[in-house]
Amino acid sequence: MVENDECKGEAKEEAKAKVTPWEVRGVVDYDELVVRFGTTRLEGATKRRLVELAGEDHWMLRRDIFYSHRDLDTILDRQSKGKPWALYTGRGPSGHTHLGHVTPWMFNKWLQDRFRVPMFFQLTDDEKFVFNPELTLEKTHEYALENALDFLALGFDPKLTKVVIDTDLIRTMYPIALRAAKRITFSTARAVFGFTNENNIGQLFYTSMQSVPAFLPSALAGEEVPTLIPAAIDQDAHFRITRDVAPHLGYPKPALLHCKLLPSLLGGDKMSASDPESSIYTTDKPKVVRKKLMNAFTGGRVSVEEQRRLGANPDICPVFWYEHYLFETDDAKLADIERRCRSGELLCGEHKLALYAKVEKWLEHHQSERERIRAHLDDFMMKD
Ligand code: TRP
Repeated sequence: MVENDECKGEAKEEAKAKVTPWEVRGVVDYDELVVRFGTTRLEGATKRRLVELAGEDHWMLRRDIFYSHRDLDTILDRQSKGKPWALYTGRGPSGHTHLGHVTPWMFNKWLQDRFRVPMFFQLTDDEKFVFNPELTLEKTHEYALENALDFLALGFDPKLTKVVIDTDLIRTMYPIALRAAKRITFSTARAVFGFTNENNIGQLFYTSMQSVPAFLPSALAGEEVPTLIPAAIDQDAHFRITRDVAPHLGYPKPALLHCKLLPSLLGGDKMSASDPESSIYTTDKPKVVRKKLMNAFTGGRVSVEEQRRLGANPDICPVFWYEHYLFETDDAKLADIERRCRSGELLCGEHKLALYAKVEKWLEHHQSERERIRAHLDDFMMKD
């Protein structure tokens, strides 16, 4: 059975922010998560090596948006020796894609560009079906296809990128999922995910499906091809299990790169899929985007007069965070926005309009790309 190295000490941290693959609640203390999950901060020599091997820096590294990892050095070692490795990331298709999902995907795209490695993109229509009482399998499959367009619209290389939809690729996936499942006890799954007697058994089994793409590159090649999984840190729970079972199945443990979650436009934490006002969807029309941004929470003052006098607070401001995570990649320009915000020179209404212009420009391009890709979607699908 699984030794459970990385699954120790779960489910006893009720008072802290809740960060599970299904729910992120409370104010997330990302430093504390590193300790609680037992990951390693992305810093120092490892971070420098990543940048060196990539041949350039990335704003999500400089700004600690990707800020934690497991075993990244094993991948960097392989990269320096010219040995193969692959990228794996994914999405649970419970609805349309929003900018919170796009954040780690952009970084994945950069990694593929820099290292020219295969990418496996998993769409877990099975997961969202068993976890969401409202969703039918037809619907989650439909969202899977729509979400795939958003991923591919970012420009992943058609020669190196495969999309895996769980229910479509099940013949290939099931034998590997079963081998993983046989190594995961109920006790481990319950400790890691907090399952109770009320959970359905599809939910219990699901984590074994999320392990599969971590092993697929090795299974397909018939040799060790470890994966690097860049994902939001809330997914770490699944991959602690994946890493525990890997050696028992004869596969290398996947390495992980963790990012922070794009905050809600309404203030607080992760964008909530249940509140469309909290985030911008890739399918939103300009009018809707504008309205969402104009209604966003800010770190501003109650009056213009007060803001001019006292300045605003970007530390708690989603409008500023959108710049920081996605829309102002130039550090000097970001610093200038911050300075003007703190000094009261930049008013929130003005800033919202400036951000809207950037978001709209990005969305226009993205929306045309996702329609262009539609005709080629089938070429990216991995088939049994
Ligand atoms: N469970 C993820 C979600 O709910 C989807 C997913 C599957 C995923 N495989 C992944 C996310 C790999 C990141 C990396 O969205």
